[in-house]
Amino acid sequence: MNITKVKDYEEMSFRAAEYLLKKIVKLKKPVIGLATGSTPEGMYKYLIEKKEEISFKNVTTFNLDEYVGLSKDDQNSYHFYMNDKLFNHIDIKKENTHLPNGAAKDLKQECRDYEDAIREAGFIDVQILGIGVNGHIGFNDPETPFTSRTHVVDLDESTRKANVRFFQSIEEVPRQAITMGIETIMESKEILLLISGKEKAHSLARLIEGPVDEKFPASILHKHAHVEIIADEAALSGVGKYLH
Ligand code: PGA
Repeated sequence: MNITKVKDYEEMSFRAAEYLLKKIVKLKKPVIGLATGSTPEGMYKYLIEKKEEISFKNVTTFNLDEYVGLSKDDQNSYHFYMNDKLFNHIDIKKENTHLPNGAAKDLKQECRDYEDAIREAGFIDVQILGIGVNGHIGFNDPETPFTSRTHVVDLDESTRKANVRFFQSIEEVPRQAITMGIETIMESKEILLLISGKEKAHSLARLIEGPVDEKFPASILHKHAHVEIIADEAALSGVGKYLH
């Protein structure tokens, strides 16, 4: 794992956008894995700023996850988030943007179809990841098997609470989601993990200094050949203090 230390959220976002843009320029048909939540929002803002210089016409995207039971137009769906924060502002072809359909009738089939679509696209060149305070990647909460593929999950209470800020109340936060599995994520050729803020300091210390086990899903990243981490000073402030 290669770690780049940056000053703050803005610099993390800027560096992450630069990293992605370089890939987009270099690859003929880039396949980019995207994430939602607060962490990548700044990166999306910087990508949009470059829209006059860099075309996204050849880019295909796959998002990590989507809530079950929310339609694409629901303001809390990740479809809505992605359209609002990125896709509506760049020249990407909407048909090349993929998120699991959380409103699908047959969720298991939807998971299989999602896996097939990633494979048919030639797998993900760079997957953007955030990390949950419990170490989750995508919606793969602690104890998810490292061998998991795209699947339906019951969301951890801590994850629902962490995301209540996007909803009116905890009752509104969906109880299930579709997420890429850990093995699916690990098949990405490169992973770019973004971490900002002191509330993630313990998680980053655990990631860097702790063992690889399913109690902390992100720990699997130690087994990936190409992981870039961009972390700000606050997120790195716990390193060296992790208690084994
Ligand atoms: P956040 O979420 O970016 O909103 O902190 C990260 C995650 O839960 O993966």
